[in-house]
This record gives sequence, C-alpha cells and structure tokens, in this order.
Amino acid sequence: MSTWFDSARFGMFIHWGHSSQQGVELSWPMVGGNAALPDGDLTVAEYQASAATFNPVQWDPVGLARTAKSLGMQYAVFTTKHHDGYAMFHTKTSDFGVEHSPYERDIVGEFVEAFRAEGLRVGLYFSLIDWNHPDYPAFTDADRPYRFGRSKAPTPEQWERFTAVMFEQVRELLTNYGQIDVFWFDGGWERTPEQWRAQELEALIRELQPGILINDRLPTVGDFETPEQFVPAQAPARTWETCMTLNESWGYNPDDGAWKSPRQVVHTLCEVAGKGGNLLLNVSPMGDGALMPEQRAILGAMQRWLSQNGESITGTEPGLEPWQFYGPSTKRGDTTYVHLLMRPYETVTVRGVPIKHVKRVRVLASGRGLAFTTRCAIIDQFFNPDPPGELTIQVPEDALDPFATVLAVEMG
Ligand code: GLC
Repeated sequence: MSTWFDSARFGMFIHWGHSSQQGVELSWPMVGGNAALPDGDLTVAEYQASAATFNPVQWDPVGLARTAKSLGMQYAVFTTKHHDGYAMFHTKTSDFGVEHSPYERDIVGEFVEAFRAEGLRVGLYFSLIDWNHPDYPAFTDADRPYRFGRSKAPTPEQWERFTAVMFEQVRELLTNYGQIDVFWFDGGWERTPEQWRAQELEALIRELQPGILINDRLPTVGDFETPEQFVPAQAPARTWETCMTLNESWGYNPDDGAWKSPRQVVHTLCEVAGKGGNLLLNVSPMGDGALMPEQRAILGAMQRWLSQNGESITGTEPGLEPWQFYGPSTKRGDTTYVHLLMRPYETVTVRGVPIKHVKRVRVLASGRGLAFTTRCAIIDQFFNPDPPGELTIQVPEDALDPFATVLAVEMG
C-alpha cells in the first residue's frame, strides 16, 4: 500500500536533549562514545547533571516548523527520548524529564502542535535503549568501554518492570498528542526481538494509531528502511529514508566543524529523490533551544534553491535509468526532471527516450526554454513511427545554477 511517505522526499530530524546545554553529542558521551561518535569524556553523573538546569527559553517550534516548510519538507521527526533516557515529554512513568526541569513545559507537545499547524506530518523518535533506567539496567562508569553486542543483562524481574515502563511511554506518546504519522525507533541492537516484545509493541502502536508508519529499528518490525549517514548505491527494494547530519554530530556540538556545504546537501537530496527515497536531514537545537547559526545558514542557502527547484523533488517518482542520463533524475506525469550535478560542456544528453514526444525542455528555476536536437538509429527514421533515441540539450553557461541546474523535459 502506498502512502504519503513514499514520495515525501524531504523531512527534518531534530536531535535535542538536556545535554545540548553542555555542547556534547546526545547520550553517547555518558558511555564514553563509540568508534563513529567518539565525543565523550564525561562521567555518567557529569553528563546527566544538566537535566537539572534545562530551561530552553529560546525554543521556537513555530519558527522551526516554518523553516522546515520553507524548505519544502513534508515531515519532521523529534527525539522524544534518546538513549540517555531523558523524556522530552510529560510522562507519569518517571521524574527524569522536562516536566521536572526549570522549563516544565511539554516540548514534544509543542513540537507536534507547531509542525502540524504548518501542515507537516509529525514523527516521534524513541530510543528503546534507556541507559538511565535502573531496571534496564542503567549504564555506570564501571561498564566502560561501551561495546556493541555486550550490554549488561537485566534480571527477569527487572526486565518485566522495564518493559512495562517502556510500553507505557509508547502508549503516552501515541495517546496524548493526536495523530502521529511516524514512530521512529532506535537502539534495538541491545536486546532481542523477544525481549523487546516486538510483536506486542507493534500491535499496541497500530491499535493506538492505525495510520502510523513504523521504521525498521524495532527488530523484525517496520514499514521502511533507515540507512544512516549515506546514500545507498542501489535503492532498497522497499520504502526507505536516509537520515543525515549537517556536520558529523546529531546533537549540538560546537566542536564539530565538519560542515557539509549547502550544495553538497542539495546534491544528496537530488540523489536520494532520484532513487525514490527520503532524506531526513538533522538539525541540532542548542541548550537554550535556538538553532545553531551554522545550521541556520546552510538551510537558508538551501532555501533559495528549493524554492526554485523543489518541484523536481517533492512528490516525484524516480526518473530515468542510470544508463539514460549521467546523474539523478525524477519525474511527475509527463515531465522528467534531470539534475545536473556536474557542469555540462555545452550540452547534456538523455538516452533511450521517445524522441518524437519531446515537446519542450526548460530550465526549471527560470522557465527559460532550451534548444535541443534528437537523433536515433538511421533505419528507425524510416521504419519506426515512435523511435527511442537521444535527446541532446543545449545548456548555456548563464543558465547554470551554482548548486544544481534542473532541466524539465516535457513529453507529450
Ligand atoms: C544512531 C545513534 C543515535 C542517533 C541515530 C540516528 O543509532 O545511536 O545517536 O540518534 O543513530 O539515526
């Protein structure tokens, strides 16, 4: 069954927690980091200490929702609880959350309301791992170094109590905020599907939110795949979304200056759309709730390109086959959008198209018509009324966009 998500193409991931006040990655510093996210020389107590002072007075969900909308994003996913166990929502299950911070307000509720008001779909990120909960059991400094595949085992009684809490949190998240469109699990690797009670959890979610989509990180469950930090070489067979950071951190980390350029992100978005996936692009509010200025600048630069070329991304299907054109392409109805991610030398060629049906080629951003020629096998010119062939488009220098030039090829 196809859904809105199959052609959404672009969404916003929001990674945020109390530890953003310390300018460190979410959760990982409390276990000493991992190979991919090495950041983290804090004890558990040092890391969790900033829960007591969380007061993000600059948090502006309405502004953020408008930013997402201005980029043509169709949805957003918010960290309701990361591996550190801190609840960004009001929960009866624990005192470890925003309700008991100086801020007090229900941040998840504010997120949902603001994004929904802008017409975006909303998703909730939820970590199965809870390194803070005594029955998980909690991670302690003595458990370092963190090793994948080797986490401390709970007793059966502990696990019974923990899963009751976890189920209750899921129930709260899917009951208290109206319609939720995506449930985005993470951290499934530390336990088995049986331990997570995966089938039962899925049944609960679908009962509470019949239209919801669930990602693939609750083992054995899932409506879509979630490659992380890269574009798959071949499009996965089922619906997919790649999540990606703007630097190399998910949470606010001022020491991480490895920023992608706006052009690189635009190219990634074109690649993802051309393969029929979605890009869930991450932003990191700071400890006071404001968006990082560097991220604001990147998104601002992308906004110009998207306002002129977003038509070739949102709601499209994958376009040509890789052998037909050297680059990504998408399509909608009779229009094929080719994304020029490399600068053309005078012309670009598209192959294997019904050349007699090419009506017009235009630069999407400006509407400017471009001259083109076609050719096909000589014998086809006489015997084939509808020959496939090559379409060669003149692309003048002054039609080029500094990020990516999109040509719209209209067939009729
Ligand atoms: C990883 C990390 C986590 C991050 C997530 C986003 O699983 O553990 O920090 O939230 O990827 O996809």
